[in-house]
Amino acid sequence: MDNERIITSNELKEDSFEKTIRPVTLDEYIGQTEVKENLGVYIKAAKMRDESLDHVLLYGPPGLGKTTLAYIIANEMGSNIKTASGPAIEKSGDLAAILSSLEPGDVLFIDEIHRIPRYIEEILYSAMEDFTLDIVVGNDSSSRSIRIDLPPFTLVGATTRAGDLTGPLRDRFGIVSKLQFYSEKELKQIIERTSRVLEAPIDDDAALSLARRSRGTPRIANRLFKRIRDYALVMGNGVIDNEITNYALDKLKVDKLGLDDTDYNLLKAIIERFNGGPVGIEALASSIGEEQTTIEDVYEPYLLQQGLLKRTSRGRVVTEKAYEHLGIPYKMN
Ligand SMILES: Nc1ncnc2c1ncn2[C@@H]1O[C@H](COP(=O)(O)OP(=O)(O)OP(=O)(O)O)[C@@H](O)[C@H]1O
Ligand SMILES: [Mg+2]
Repeated sequence: MDNERIITSNELKEDSFEKTIRPVTLDEYIGQTEVKENLGVYIKAAKMRDESLDHVLLYGPPGLGKTTLAYIIANEMGSNIKTASGPAIEKSGDLAAILSSLEPGDVLFIDEIHRIPRYIEEILYSAMEDFTLDIVVGNDSSSRSIRIDLPPFTLVGATTRAGDLTGPLRDRFGIVSKLQFYSEKELKQIIERTSRVLEAPIDDDAALSLARRSRGTPRIANRLFKRIRDYALVMGNGVIDNEITNYALDKLKVDKLGLDDTDYNLLKAIIERFNGGPVGIEALASSIGEEQTTIEDVYEPYLLQQGLLKRTSRGRVVTEKAYEHLGIPYKMN
């Protein structure tokens, strides 16, 4: 279901075009000023000391540039990057194999790191702290543990849910950075950059309209850009102006705040079925037929950031701003 959602911030197959428009240096990486400045200092210091960079944990909603940043870190360190993904690590042997393939200074990027099973995750503790790998060899009757030295490396972990990480794992990251939603201005710059890379010129006001309707998320901005470019080619004369941009975004059912049908369903469900809230996440999830984690990771962060939704101790509450935005008369709870 989520796959069909044009403004999904999850990565879709067709996003591979983004590889070419992925910034490769810190300088090219737009926004996230604080994260960028800090990382810049740590990278420089590590290089001056000729050491590997401390382990880095990047967290925040999907599509904000965690993977991009991991590649940039490797590039700026002059290191090779190896990649792995939490859900794909099913056995301790999977992780041991990845770790023992590392070479000095490598960056190991583990996406969705919160999804590594707990008992496998423990292997990471000594690997991160002491650069050693303890593995058990042999069978039950004659098993022994052997210790392998690993070269110094940098683990870059990415997660949409920092809260799901265990304490011991989180504590082993020297650098923890939270990525924020991008401002309109930053998104506009990203759109202009994409436009240059794809050699598809976009008018200034069109870039701003698109920026406003991209949910603070570069991946969404880039994906919508591609669709608008199609509309401009087929319906117009190839020029991406404000008119074709707004036309395309209306067709794509992305509203002025970047909300789509699913957001409307979610907000409306709370208003109509739960009297505006508070409603617990479980009841809400089953009411709109979405996974709880999808609501928490994908939909909610932006609605919260826009002040359309509030999280209280008793559950989610729709704000007056949301009523206004949906054109539903507000009634106090
Ligand atoms: N700061 C940035 N400047 C320019 N483009 C960016 C920036 N951040 C992200 N992008 C663009 O957005 C796309 C999505 O970013 P990325 O894949 O790094 O997101 P992510 O945070 O890893 O998402 P997920 O959590 O789904 O893995 C990239 O391909 C890139 O083109
Ligand atoms: Mg990613």
